[in-house]
Amino acid sequence: MARTERAMTATKPAPAAHPSGDKRFKLLDRAINLHQGNGHALIEVLHTAQNVFGFLEDDVLLYIAHALKRPLSQVYGVATFYHYFRLKPAGEHTFILCQGTACYVKGAPQLQKAVEHRCRARFGETTKDGKVSLLTARCVGSCGLAPVAVVDGQMASKMSEADALARLNAWLGDDGKAGAP
Ligand code: FES
Repeated sequence: MARTERAMTATKPAPAAHPSGDKRFKLLDRAINLHQGNGHALIEVLHTAQNVFGFLEDDVLLYIAHALKRPLSQVYGVATFYHYFRLKPAGEHTFILCQGTACYVKGAPQLQKAVEHRCRARFGETTKDGKVSLLTARCVGSCGLAPVAVVDGQMASKMSEADALARLNAWLGDDGKAGAP
């Protein structure tokens, strides 16, 4: 290799790829570089990570903590505080139950119980077959229509237990094998 070529190689090293070879880390690196130093960097980078990876795996959170020079506990704290962020893979369908005060008073706890029983999974989890992710929200802004769920992105108002089970049966198949979570 010529001396000038060697010098260029030394001054302009190729960006290090993630050891896993997963190219999605390049997109994450771009967001990290873009937001580093900004007060909302952690939230912005977590958003990008979820969009790119679908959910926030442990090693992704570790990578972000390292890159942003933040304690891992802080990164986990933010990722678990916001309901938007998922630490497990999302299912094919999402069922988000509002647990704000109006929905709570109008029967959200009973709905929660019925849904968890049918899915054999708790809110915050995805069914074992990967079909349904159960999530909660604090208030989705339609208190007059409580209890409210957001089903595959569509608002479902005044949801009854029968409505919820009908949707879940359509997704999960009416196997009649629901057991306690
Ligand atoms: S509390 Fe459920 S929509 Fe407001």
